[in-house]
Amino acid sequence: MSDALGQPGSGVVVTGAASGIGVATADALAAVGRPVAIWDRDGDGAARAAAEIHSRHGVATHPVALDVTVDEAVVDAVAPTVAELGSVGGIVHGAGIVAPALEGVIDVTTWDAVLGTHLRGYAFVVQALVDELRRARPGSAIVGIASIEGLIGHGAIPSYTAAKHGMIGLSRSLAHRLGPEGVRVNAVCPGYIETPMLAPAIGDAAARARLETSVPLGRLGEPADVAAVVRFLLSNEARYIHGAAVVVDGGVTATGGQ
Ligand code: NAI
Repeated sequence: MSDALGQPGSGVVVTGAASGIGVATADALAAVGRPVAIWDRDGDGAARAAAEIHSRHGVATHPVALDVTVDEAVVDAVAPTVAELGSVGGIVHGAGIVAPALEGVIDVTTWDAVLGTHLRGYAFVVQALVDELRRARPGSAIVGIASIEGLIGHGAIPSYTAAKHGMIGLSRSLAHRLGPEGVRVNAVCPGYIETPMLAPAIGDAAARARLETSVPLGRLGEPADVAAVVRFLLSNEARYIHGAAVVVDGGVTATGGQ
């Protein structure tokens, strides 16, 4: 593994890291020596991921059972996380939920939960940790896991589409604000990645085949496909990439979306 991807060597907080893209990202960062905190509302999953990653890579790992929509829980997690990791110079906001709204455009409960987790959660986690990122400079960086639904629209998931467009907008705003302070901010836009979140959409063979056919590279993405890009964006190798929305979708949006 290239040493360059492990620079800087500061710790990284990954939200949603008990599963899917989040856990793959935490694992990829640990593989190049970066300590990782696993913040997830699934406390058992977070503890399991932290133990497995520590035993595989030997770096400090710190699980926290928290809901990113609960402000006090996020604030309370900061000091113990910094104590365990030594520093926090990176944030990955990967906590996410998706729920279709097939009846009306706005189902208020779904809207609040989805926007709260993806968009408000992203802003609040950054706010809680930004002083730590300032302290950990040079090399501090933030990555928001958005989606191709942040670039194109999907009629079945209006709240998710709005939240992901918002995450890209927030990343750009943060890039404007924090760039002069030496903190880089980018969004990543995954396509169809095989995780528990995608499972309902590929439940039967025909649905899976339809989705695969829509990907020019001919396969669904793996969590590690996204994790490699996130790790790169958090490294000094990406030192001039700032305010970008980096698409990792096997060519779906380049060829007309879904
Ligand atoms: P996943 O369902 O495997 O993992 C999501 C994790 O977030 C879970 O561990 C869950 O417990 C945690 N979580 C949910 N709400 C939370 C909250 N309020 N507080 C703390 N933790 C919470 O899903 P996946 O696929 O790994 O998704 C990760 C991110 O990637 C999400 O933002 C998702 O929208 C995004 N994404 C996923 C794609 C896919 O095809 N799987 C495509 C594009 C984006």
